[in-house]
Amino acid sequence: MRFGNLTFVSLLPFFLSKTDALFSQTGFTVELNGIDYYAPPDPVTTISVEDVEFRSNWLKPFTVVKTDQLNLNMDSVVATYSEKDDVWQDGFLQALYIQYTGTVAPGPHYPFESNQNESIPTIFTAQPASIIPDGPYFVSAIGTVYKAYRLYSDIQVAFSESVIENFDGTFSVLPANTWGQSLGIAVPSRLYYTKTAEKPLAGVRLGVKDIYDVAGLRTSNGNRAWYHLYPPANTTGPVVSNLIAAGAVVVGKMKTSQFANGEQATADWVDYHAPFNPRGDGYQDASSSSTGPGAGEGAYEWLDITLGSDTGGSVRGPSQVQGLYGNRPSHGLVSLENVMPLAPQLDTPGILTRDPILWMESAQALYGSNITVSSQYPSSILTVSYPTLETAESESDNMLVEFLGTLSKFLSANVSTFNVTTAWATAKPDQLPLTQILNLTYATIITEEQTRLVRDPFYADYAAEHDGRLPFVNPVPLRRWGYADNSTDTVEEAVANKTLFMDWFNSEVLVPDDETCSSSLMVYVGSTSDSQNYRNVYRTAPGVPFGFGTSRFSVFAEVPDMVVPIGQASYESTITNHTEYLPVTVNFLAAKGCDGMIFSLVKDLHEAGIVSITKSGTSSVTGGEILFKRDGLPQ
Ligand SMILES: *[C@@H]1O[C@H](CO)[C@@H](O)[C@H](O)[C@H]1NC(C)=O
Ligand SMILES: *[C@@H]1O[C@H](CO)[C@@H](O)[C@H](O)[C@H]1NC(C)=O
Ligand SMILES: *[C@@H]1O[C@H](CO)[C@@H](O)[C@H](O)[C@H]1NC(C)=O
Ligand SMILES: *[C@@H]1O[C@H](CO)[C@@H](O)[C@H](O)[C@H]1NC(C)=O
Ligand SMILES: *[C@@H]1O[C@H](CO)[C@@H](O)[C@H](O)[C@H]1NC(C)=O
Ligand SMILES: *[C@@H]1O[C@H](CO)[C@@H](O)[C@H](O)[C@H]1NC(C)=O
Ligand SMILES: *[C@@H]1O[C@H](CO)[C@@H](O)[C@H](O)[C@H]1NC(C)=O
Ligand SMILES: *[C@@H]1O[C@H](CO)[C@@H](O)[C@H](O)[C@H]1NC(C)=O
Ligand SMILES: *[C@@H]1O[C@H](CO)[C@@H](O)[C@H](O)[C@H]1NC(C)=O
Repeated sequence: MRFGNLTFVSLLPFFLSKTDALFSQTGFTVELNGIDYYAPPDPVTTISVEDVEFRSNWLKPFTVVKTDQLNLNMDSVVATYSEKDDVWQDGFLQALYIQYTGTVAPGPHYPFESNQNESIPTIFTAQPASIIPDGPYFVSAIGTVYKAYRLYSDIQVAFSESVIENFDGTFSVLPANTWGQSLGIAVPSRLYYTKTAEKPLAGVRLGVKDIYDVAGLRTSNGNRAWYHLYPPANTTGPVVSNLIAAGAVVVGKMKTSQFANGEQATADWVDYHAPFNPRGDGYQDASSSSTGPGAGEGAYEWLDITLGSDTGGSVRGPSQVQGLYGNRPSHGLVSLENVMPLAPQLDTPGILTRDPILWMESAQALYGSNITVSSQYPSSILTVSYPTLETAESESDNMLVEFLGTLSKFLSANVSTFNVTTAWATAKPDQLPLTQILNLTYATIITEEQTRLVRDPFYADYAAEHDGRLPFVNPVPLRRWGYADNSTDTVEEAVANKTLFMDWFNSEVLVPDDETCSSSLMVYVGSTSDSQNYRNVYRTAPGVPFGFGTSRFSVFAEVPDMVVPIGQASYESTITNHTEYLPVTVNFLAAKGCDGMIFSLVKDLHEAGIVSITKSGTSSVTGGEILFKRDGLPQ
């Protein structure tokens, strides 16, 4: 807001009397060659800028280079910076700050002793006491130096809050925005970070599902009343802290379906608008509940990893439909303090990413010492409801069959089918079928536990603040919580049923193995283009998640279940009236605790060219955008 001089003068006495006003700078927004940037309020250092002309601007973009060479080759610096970083651009060449670390005394014309461009004002320091990391910065007329963050638009509405890290390790809401009718997300230059053994995720940009507490920020759990009722978190929980300690940079909180219950776009998303799945026609459901992490990771090249959670499929679903690598860990390997529970007996945190190597590196930070990476693999593959040469009838089926052939060859493994119904009937002839034992198990555990742990304290706190009122809750969680109120089934009974299945599965189906960690690798189909799930559909009223199927194996048996994208297949879109493509994915399961074996296998499959880094945008294989032709526009 600008005050005219006259207004300011007339208000001056009033301002002077308010000596107790809380005032702080929250940074600067600037535009450089049509691209929006943010500079945080705290300078990283102060340098001498006597020789730099500022004209009428307070800030000047400049480039920092560290070198031990007397003959600095700026062409190669520019080439490297442009290739490595989406924040640096040649607009930052308005001044150069050279930190010379060599031992030979430089001559009078350094650094432009040969073919260099003398029109760039250059500040030179030899053997500086402290080194600023290379990259783009802004320097003020008094020499304070600020980091440069590029502002990207969250065009898929995947984020719930745009955040910036404070100097003390807490976070604030980003006080800046850009074009695009959505939040602006600030990402720091990649050049500031160097990966080391201690910081394997240095500079990796991370989006966090908005059920994880992050110090300084409010958590919403996908509910507006919750967001406004509770104060900002004082603590960052261990999952997020472990990723930060490994070097990851939190750039925002990402949308969750409400209280991490399964919701469908657009019908169920009453409190917040569902994020957009970028794949295919751009109007497919993004799946839930880690909807923002899936949609954002599928859409944005500038976002490296996202943190979701999986109770009944909340990492796997969004990974499948967005063509991402995503893991549901073995239950209990990663501690979930300061995270909203659906049910502690079943909740797990997981990483969604396009890059299988980064996936494994992030997992190592996530699990800490609770992961053992091993690279001897099972020589038996069990398939569940998987197409075969004989039954394949679609482009997706053929791709799945071909992938299985390649995988079994790679592992020199035998493939056999696994039918849980017949396997159980054979092993436990005196027990009821699993469809009867486990039909109510998941629904009972999640609805009873969330009602007790989340709803009841929430309703009490809200009523105390709002004269006995109820907060608004979306139809899906409300229906599930209502089910718990009316059901006479107990969590104890449900856990006993779960345990019956788990004990059998872990001793007879996916059995621990001394050499290969797991007796077999189990695979099932994650996603295909054979069915679509459009978001412009009027749906029936929400139900309770009864039933038992393949995606519940890992939930009940506590084994790892990981999504691996293998390609894409076509469909005819009713939105675009055009052929479009959706990701085809496969899920890998192994014995409990064999997460590290699967990560290693996927890494080796990547190195063998069998699986690839997926692309952001409309196609997981070729990238690109349907809705937003952004060529020539700021991105
Ligand atoms: C030198 O740098 C200036 C400012 O970046 C640029 O306009 C000019 O084209 C450069 N000249 C040469 C010869 O590279
Ligand atoms: C954080 O600490 C402040 C000050 O002690 C307190 O008022 C606030 O309630 C705490 N927030 C949470 C979420 O516990
Ligand atoms: C590893 O497992 C132990 C025991 O369950 C737990 O206390 C610890 O927090 C886990 N580590 C991580 C990084 O979650
Ligand atoms: C598993 O076996 C049952 C009983 O024999 C059969 O009804 C079912 O179709 C089989 N499932 C698959 C996926 O083949
Ligand atoms: C795979 O099947 C072949 C032929 O049936 C058999 O000879 C071989 O031992 C099997 N290998 C494994 C690892 O089970
Ligand atoms: C599962 O339970 C629901 C709710 O009681 C019931 O409607 C459904 O028929 C049951 N399904 C099976 C396979 O038992
Ligand atoms: C537990 O299993 C029994 C069958 O053994 C079934 O009747 C009951 O509905 C199940 N309850 C839950 C909560 O899973
Ligand atoms: C649960 O019971 C309450 C009170 O009897 C009723 O109003 C509500 O509709 C029921 N909810 C469900 C989900 O069945
Ligand atoms: C869809 O495409 C078909 C042929 O590709 C065309 O005949 C039809 O008119 C199109 N539909 C609309 C609504 O434009």
